[in-house]
Amino acid sequence: TADKVPAGPADPILGLNDAFNKDTFEKKINLGVGAYRDDNGKPWVLPSVKEAEKRLIEKGWNGAYQKEYAGITGIKEFNDASVLFAYGSAGKVIEEGRLAVAQVLSGTGGGRLAFEFYARFVGKNVPIYMPDPTWANHLPMAKDAGLSLQTYRYYDKNTVGLDFNGLCEDVNNAKDGSIFMFHACAHNPTGVDPTIEQWKEISSLLKKKNHMVFLDMAYQGFASGDADEDARALRMLVEDGHDIILAQSFAKNFGLYGERVGCFSMVAGSKNEAERLLSQIKILIRPMYSNPPIHGARIVATVLNDPALNKQWYSECKSMADRIIDMRKLLKSNLEKEGSTRNWDHVVKQIGMFCFSGLNPEQVDRLKNEYHIYMTKNGRISMAGVTSKNVEYLAHAMHQVSK
Ligand code: LMR
Repeated sequence: TADKVPAGPADPILGLNDAFNKDTFEKKINLGVGAYRDDNGKPWVLPSVKEAEKRLIEKGWNGAYQKEYAGITGIKEFNDASVLFAYGSAGKVIEEGRLAVAQVLSGTGGGRLAFEFYARFVGKNVPIYMPDPTWANHLPMAKDAGLSLQTYRYYDKNTVGLDFNGLCEDVNNAKDGSIFMFHACAHNPTGVDPTIEQWKEISSLLKKKNHMVFLDMAYQGFASGDADEDARALRMLVEDGHDIILAQSFAKNFGLYGERVGCFSMVAGSKNEAERLLSQIKILIRPMYSNPPIHGARIVATVLNDPALNKQWYSECKSMADRIIDMRKLLKSNLEKEGSTRNWDHVVKQIGMFCFSGLNPEQVDRLKNEYHIYMTKNGRISMAGVTSKNVEYLAHAMHQVSK
């Protein structure tokens, strides 16, 4: 059979890294994958993360007993800290033991587990609605789990903002009891989020239609620089009593991309129900990957559970968010300096790691072929790859291809 297997296409996001790495041009810029870079274009290990690792070593975490398997649902201290970080005291779900929680392989792992759960217990024929557009990986994650994929209107090209009316109409017109997926904050790729007032309206519509809610939270703390602020939509939906599954990722906010640290949690009606759900979640996990890796989860638990280290992490996370906000301003002003007459307000208005630039696929191709600047076909710029040193070159190139 092997000789009959055709070659597949490169991943639309991760595939860009290979092309970038092969490029030998000195001024090349990688604005593809969403991974934080400092102002020298280098990856950054947060000092709070380094400190946590040091403490773990001092505690002897690298000893033989520390290399044992975690349970199927991972490390309890991590799970407890992770859900407290996301939910706070919302809806008393933690206090009342109403969460089924499992440590998972980052955001993708949490999402995939959620989709497998829906496929098995809600039904493959129940539609799952995703925003149009959404993160490229969401679609195959749901399809591979066998779900019936639908999209809802989200982004309005004309206003370069949220298509709030379209979104509400689609929520309303969906079959009762559908699944709706939202990005909890810092929507990827658009950087456009509903306001809290809009979230309130969305919440009451979802309730009226009895829809289930899946939330992908990959940027808590990274969007506004304030982790509580970024959790507002989630907490409000919890207060409103929705059926929620949440997938948290600690890749971006803790800079732990390769450690695959994530948390899956599902809100139940009672403690007993949460226990039943968790028993099924374990049955789903075990044949997929048995149990999750421990190193990154220990780091996150150490940081979140130590008040001083936690505070330090907050300011480091904020510094990443702030650098990105500065780069947004710098990119816009440099585009204006280049003489661009296009409206680039959205560059500074959008939230999180990405700028949905409005550049079309031809322009994106020209940036790659003529300027060695790499971004996804949909015109998404990972702002984390922009630095005070390359922003002028980037603005120049963007103006040349878009004038
Ligand atoms: C992205 O959207 O670039 C990130 O979430 C990284 C990834 O895995 O695609």
